[in-house]
Amino acid sequence: MRDLPWPARAYLVAVIGVAAALIVRGVVVSGAPVAPENLDILLVLALLFLVCESMPTLLNVEQFAVSVSFSASLAAVVLLGPEGAALVGLTAVVSVRPGLPWIKRLFNGAQFAICGFAAGWVYVALDGQVGVPQVNAFDDLIGPYVAATAVFVPLNIVLTLTVIALATGSRATEVPMRGMVQFLLSYLGYGTFGLLVAGLWATVASISAVLVLVPLFVARWAFGQYHAQQRSYDATIAALCQAVETKDYYTRGHCTRVSHASSMIAQEIGMGVERVRAIRYAGMLHDVGKLGVPTKVLQKDGPLTEEEFAAIQLHPMRGLEIVRGIGFLDEAYAGIMHHHERHDGTGYPMGLAGDEIPEFAKVIAVADAFDSMTSDRSYRGARPVPVAVEELRKCAGTHFDPVMVAAFIRALEREPWQSPPRVDPPPPEAAESPIKDHDDPTMPIEVVTGQ
Ligand SMILES: [Fe+2]
Repeated sequence: MRDLPWPARAYLVAVIGVAAALIVRGVVVSGAPVAPENLDILLVLALLFLVCESMPTLLNVEQFAVSVSFSASLAAVVLLGPEGAALVGLTAVVSVRPGLPWIKRLFNGAQFAICGFAAGWVYVALDGQVGVPQVNAFDDLIGPYVAATAVFVPLNIVLTLTVIALATGSRATEVPMRGMVQFLLSYLGYGTFGLLVAGLWATVASISAVLVLVPLFVARWAFGQYHAQQRSYDATIAALCQAVETKDYYTRGHCTRVSHASSMIAQEIGMGVERVRAIRYAGMLHDVGKLGVPTKVLQKDGPLTEEEFAAIQLHPMRGLEIVRGIGFLDEAYAGIMHHHERHDGTGYPMGLAGDEIPEFAKVIAVADAFDSMTSDRSYRGARPVPVAVEELRKCAGTHFDPVMVAAFIRALEREPWQSPPRVDPPPPEAAESPIKDHDDPTMPIEVVTGQ
């Protein structure tokens, strides 16, 4: 707690204080937050909440992940009302998550209590009936329940993002809106589990929690498998990148930045989630074919012979050969193979022009050249972002697809580019660095003929 900046500490104290006040208010107003005859419901829902909270279930849409414990809180809204929902949320304090600091436990419990209370308050305010729902009255509680979910979910996100922003100094608005919307929708969708528990309670009582838990854990297992697979994909890609970048001291981090810039363009032109993921991979691997180019050619200090330049020009084909067996890359192949084609047809390896060039390749070409220009090279310093943008503009229609250049410029206005830190001169064992970068559109590689 002492490590946190004072605004974060003040915020934590305020959230915990509000939650405590709400619980105390429940005791003062009605003698007990939950009627004694409803203690069994409270116990079952608290257990359901604890099981879910102790085994965080990832509902990942892009980079967001949450546990689905909120379903139990929402069931408590219907079955127990605001104070009961607050109590269920409060049990997050004792969730079985080894190593979780006490302050985080307190905050989790407090923010879930606040969200549960607020959702319950809205539910009651909209005439939602508190208690075990009767079959003939079930329709009447759907509207108030949806409203309660619509309060619980955003409030939960805002409370959590605020503490992260205050603790890390980052801005919550840095979270991409597209991902946030998808996250909210999936979160709201999983909120229906709470309605299921409440609705089933009239017929099967506490068994309803088990009936809901089973599909929940099947979903958890499936998501777990999916994420394990994604992680292994990412590790495979990262290993290949690492191998490429060890060949060239000055291009370290280039693959990651090209991947990021490519995904910025892809999102700007409206590519779907799966294609954005594929283009991220393509950006990471666009130069993997350099593994098939002799290091002495990549690191040659001075003009290249025609044969050496031909070896450089072969790297997109070599890249395709290297990754061809990796099934999950799909459309990324085209990006790797054609990232040096030019809009006017003078690029390589196929000399494709305009619409003949695959969309992935058009995107990567812009991202690749931009990062090359804004990074240090052995033969020049990094150019400022505005200068690189101007160069892209100048080459739009000849080197680059104008649509992709315009999309990238728009994306940069929304998300300013973080240029890489200065590259210190290489250590003696890596001193031989390439005199020219093949990605740099402003300084073409010199080729001497007749050697
Ligand atoms: Fe390349």
